[in-house]
Amino acid sequence: MSTQPTPPPQCPAHAAGAGGGGLHRLHGPEAEADPFALYERLRAEYGAVAPVLVSGDLPAWLVLGHRENLDVARTPSRFARDPRGWRDMKEGRVPADTPLGPMVSWVPVCNFTDGPVHERLRGAVVDSLERFDKRGIRRYVTRFANQLVDRIAGDGYADLVASFSDQLPMLVMTQLVGAPDEHGPRLVKAARDMLQGTETALQSDRYVTLTLEQLVMERKVKPAHDLASWLIEHPADLSDTEVLMHLRVVLIAAYETTANLIANTLRTVLTDPRFRASLSGGHMTLPDALEQVLWDDPPINTIIGRWATGDTLLGGQQVKAGDMLLLGLAAGNADPQIRPDPSVSVHGNRSHLAFSSGPHECPGQDIGRAIADTGIEVLLDRLPDLQLAVGADELRWRGTLMSRHILGLPVRFTPRSVENAAPHTERASEHPPHVPIPPQPTVAPGPAPAAGHRRGGGWWRRLFGRR
Ligand code: HEM
Repeated sequence: MSTQPTPPPQCPAHAAGAGGGGLHRLHGPEAEADPFALYERLRAEYGAVAPVLVSGDLPAWLVLGHRENLDVARTPSRFARDPRGWRDMKEGRVPADTPLGPMVSWVPVCNFTDGPVHERLRGAVVDSLERFDKRGIRRYVTRFANQLVDRIAGDGYADLVASFSDQLPMLVMTQLVGAPDEHGPRLVKAARDMLQGTETALQSDRYVTLTLEQLVMERKVKPAHDLASWLIEHPADLSDTEVLMHLRVVLIAAYETTANLIANTLRTVLTDPRFRASLSGGHMTLPDALEQVLWDDPPINTIIGRWATGDTLLGGQQVKAGDMLLLGLAAGNADPQIRPDPSVSVHGNRSHLAFSSGPHECPGQDIGRAIADTGIEVLLDRLPDLQLAVGADELRWRGTLMSRHILGLPVRFTPRSVENAAPHTERASEHPPHVPIPPQPTVAPGPAPAAGHRRGGGWWRRLFGRR
C-alpha cells in the first residue's frame, strides 16, 4: 500500500546507533511545533512505518499507515499491550525516571494486559459501562452543560477551554463513577488538578484515591446505579483494588480525551464555514463536525504503545522482538492511501483511528461522543451568536507525544441573564444531580491565553503517576 522510498533500517535501535543520530525525535520542538508536518516527512522518508526516537532518545517504530495501525492494534499475538516485553527496558537502557514511566510501567489493569487477563478486566469495564442508559447520560450532560453556561452567560465573553471543555467531562464522569455528592465539587477539582500537572497534583491524586477507596467501601454495603457498584457486582469478581484501579482508569481515560474532543470540535464549529452554513440549511451538522475532528485532530495523536512479541515484518520494516511501537492514530488518519485529498470531507465515514481498534479499542467512545455532542449542542442553543474573539490563526496549541490541545478558545456573545435565557433544558433526569461547580478562571476578551496553561501532559501519562 504505502510507498517505501528508501531501504529500511534493520531496527530502530540499530539505526539509532549509540546517540540515535539521524533519526527524527518525536519529542522536542520539531514534533511539538507541527506534528503533522513531521508525520509527512517521515512518511516520505520511510513509508508506512518509521524508526523514531522518543523521550530520552529511546528507539521506537512510529506506525504511520492506516492499514498498518489496524494490523498492529488488531494482532495482539504479534504486538502485545503489556510493556514488560520491551527489550530496552529489560536490558537496562530505560532510565528509572523516564517521563514515559506511567505509560510503560506495568500495572494489572485492562490497558496494560493481554489475553485472558485482559478479557476478564476489560469485560467487567465494558459490561458495566454498557449498563448506563444513554438517555440518562445525556441528561447529566445537559444539566452540567447548562450549569456551566449559566456561569458565563451574563459576561458576553469567555474562554471556552477553561470554562467549558475542560470542565464538562469530569463533572459528568464523577457522577457516572458514583462519587458521592458531598465529594462532587472537590473530586471534580482534584481529578482535573491531578491530571493537569499542577503543584498540587500529588495531593489531589491522593484525594482522588481516598475518595474512590471510600466509594468502593460504601458501594459494597449499599450498591447504587453507578460504575463503582456495577464493577463490584460483576461476575468477573474483581478485587477491591481492581475495582478502584479501574475507576481511576475510566476517570482518567475519559477526561483529557473528551475535553480535547469538545475543544477541537468547538474550534471547527466556530471557524469552519461549512458548519456556519449548516445553520442556514448547509452541509455540516454537529455530528459531522465531531467526526471530522476525530479524523483531522484526534484527541490522542499517538498511543504508547505496543511491543513486538517476536521478529516480524511491518510495512516493509524488520521489527525485532521486544521493539516498541507507537500507534500513530493522527498519522494513520491522514494516510494518503486512504485520504488522497485531506480537504475532502469525511462525511459519514467512521473508519478513523481515533478510538484505536482491536481488543483495546476504546470502550467509552459512545459516552465520550455523547458528552461532546450533547454539551456542545446545549452551548450553541444557549449562546447562538457565539463567535471567536480572536482570529483562528491566533489560537495556540500545546503538543506532547500523545496529544495536542488548544490552550484557549476566547469567544464573545450577547450577554444574557440566566433568568431570560433560552428555555433551559432541564430535561432533567429523574434524580438530577445538583453538584455545585467549583470556581473556574474567567478571561476577558483578547488574545488566546499564553502557553503555560496547566495541563501538563498526556492522559495516559498520568494514569499511574506515583501516589
Ligand atoms: C471521546 C473521547 C475519547 C477518545 C478519543 C478515546 C480514545 C481511546 C484510545 C485511543 C484508547 C486506547 C486504545 C489502545 O490502546 O489501542 C482508549 C482506551 C480506553 N478508553 Fe477511551 N477515549 C475517549 C473517551 C473515553 C471515555 C469517555 C471512557 C470511559 C467512559 C474511556 C475509557 C477507556 C478505557 C477504559 C480504555 C482502555 C481499554 C483497554 O485497554 O482495553 N474512553 N480510548
